[in-house]
Amino acid sequence: MHDVNALAARLQSTGQEHLLRFWSELAPAEQQILVRQIEALDFAALPGWIEQYVRGTPVFELPERIEPPVWYPRDPNSPRRPYDAARFRAIGEDLVRAGKVAAFCVAGGQGTRLGWDGPKGTYPATPITRKPLFQVFAEQLLAASRRWGRSIPLYVMTSPLNHEPTVEFFETHGHFGLDPSDVMFFQQGVMPSFDRESGRILLAGKGELALNPDGHGGSLRALHRSGAVDDMAQRGVEHISYIQVDNPHVRVIDPLFLGLHAAAEDSSGEMSSKMLPKTGSFEKLGNFCRVNGRTTIIEYSDLPDSLAEQRDEKGDLRFGAGSLAIHCLGVEFVKRLNTAARGFALPFHRADKKVAHLDLDTGELIEPSEPNAVKLETFVFDALPLCESSIILETDRVEEFAPIKNLSGVDSAESSRALQIERAARWLEAAGVRVARDGQGRCTAVIEISPLTALEARDLRGRRDLPASIAAGDQAVL
Ligand code: UTP
Repeated sequence: MHDVNALAARLQSTGQEHLLRFWSELAPAEQQILVRQIEALDFAALPGWIEQYVRGTPVFELPERIEPPVWYPRDPNSPRRPYDAARFRAIGEDLVRAGKVAAFCVAGGQGTRLGWDGPKGTYPATPITRKPLFQVFAEQLLAASRRWGRSIPLYVMTSPLNHEPTVEFFETHGHFGLDPSDVMFFQQGVMPSFDRESGRILLAGKGELALNPDGHGGSLRALHRSGAVDDMAQRGVEHISYIQVDNPHVRVIDPLFLGLHAAAEDSSGEMSSKMLPKTGSFEKLGNFCRVNGRTTIIEYSDLPDSLAEQRDEKGDLRFGAGSLAIHCLGVEFVKRLNTAARGFALPFHRADKKVAHLDLDTGELIEPSEPNAVKLETFVFDALPLCESSIILETDRVEEFAPIKNLSGVDSAESSRALQIERAARWLEAAGVRVARDGQGRCTAVIEISPLTALEARDLRGRRDLPASIAAGDQAVL
C-alpha cells in the first residue's frame, strides 16, 4: 500500500500536488503506475529547473573568446591540413577487424515533425524499395561485417514511448539479417513536460504524467545505466560509432573517421565529430567553435549574426563548420563521465511544444493548437567540451547528409529521396555508367543502391555487373 498522504505532502512542497487530482478515480493498478512515475521524479532538482528553464527563459551566455574550429579536410592532400588518410583508414579497418567497434543508433526521439505513426526508424526511406531506416543501417553493418570478417554489435536507444514497437519491428523483420544476439535495445530517461505558464507538470491521463524523452544527450547516461557500456567492454569494444536514426546517408562504419578518432595525434579518443561546410551563414546546423581551446558546438540560434557572417581572408565563413550529429565515442569516455566522483550534467535546452494534457477541472483531454508546454532536453554535443582534445572530420553533404526530419521542404522525406538518387547517380558515374540528367544537371532516373551492393563509391569501381547506362525515367535497383 502506498502512503498517499506522504506522497501528497512531497508533491505539495514542490507545487505539484495536482498530480494526485484524480487519485480516487484510479484503479489500484493505475495508482501504482502513477506512484512509480511520481517517485521517479527528481524532487530535489525540480524547483530549480522550473525556476531556471520554465518560468525563466534561459539566456545563452556567449563565451568571451570564441575561435574558429580546426578540422581534417575532406581532401587529405589539401594544403590546409594534409594527413595520411590511407594510414588512418587502415587503423580504422583494423579496429573493426579486431571487434573493437560498435554501432549505436539514437532512436528515442518522438519524430513529431515527420508525423509518422511509429518509431522513426521504421519510416520507409529509400526511393524505390522503400527500405525502413533501420534496415539501411542494419544492411550497412551486415556488409561491413562481411568485408572485415567480424560481426559488429548494434545498440539501439529507444525511449519508453517507442521501445516496444521498435523491438517488435526488428523481431518481425528477422533483425534484417543481423544476429539477434548482436542487437541490443535499451531505453533512455524521460523528463516531465511542464505547463508553460504555471510550471506545473502536465498530466497525460488521470493516472499518467506527460513525459518526454530527455534528449539525445540522455544517451550518455543511458549507455551506462542500461549496462550497454559494460556489455561493450565485455565484448572488447573500445569505440562507438554514434548515429542518429534520421539520416539514411550516414556511414554507420567509417574506417577513416574511426582511425582519426582513435589514433590522430590531436585526438584524445573521447568524442569526435563530422562536419559540413554550411551553405550560408544562417543554415540551421550547430556551429563548431573552439572555446578555451576545446571543441564546442554553439547552436545556430545562439551564435550572434556578427560571428555567423564573419569571413576569413580567403572569403570563407570563419564559423562555417556545421555539425551533422555524427560522432565517435570512446567507451572509456562514457564510463568516465558516469563514474566521475563529481558526476556530470549536460545543460538543458528548452523547447516550447504542443503537448496534449488533461484539464484539471474537467478531466477532459485538451489538444492544444499552440505551444503550451516546455520540454527540457539535453544534447549529446554538449559533451564535446568535456573532452581533452576532440577532432573534427569534414565530409560531403550529398555523400553523408540526407536527413528526414519533415515530410516536405528542407530536411524532409522528399529532399532525402532526391539526395539518395543523386548520390547513387554519382557513384555510378564514377564507375563509368552513363546516367540521364536534365538541363540543370538533375538525375532524371530513379536509382537505389543497396548497402549490400556498395558502402561507398569505390566499391562499384571495376564491377562488371553494372549497366552501361541508365536512361531518363528508368528505375534501377542495384
Ligand atoms: P531530433 O532532434 O530530430 O528530434 O532528433 P526528434 O524527437 O527525433 O524529432 P522531432 O523534433 O520531434 O520532430 C535527432 C536524433 O536524436 C534522437 C532522435 O531519435 C534522432 O535520431 N533523439 C532525440 C533521441 O534518441 N532521444 C531524444 O530524446 C531526442
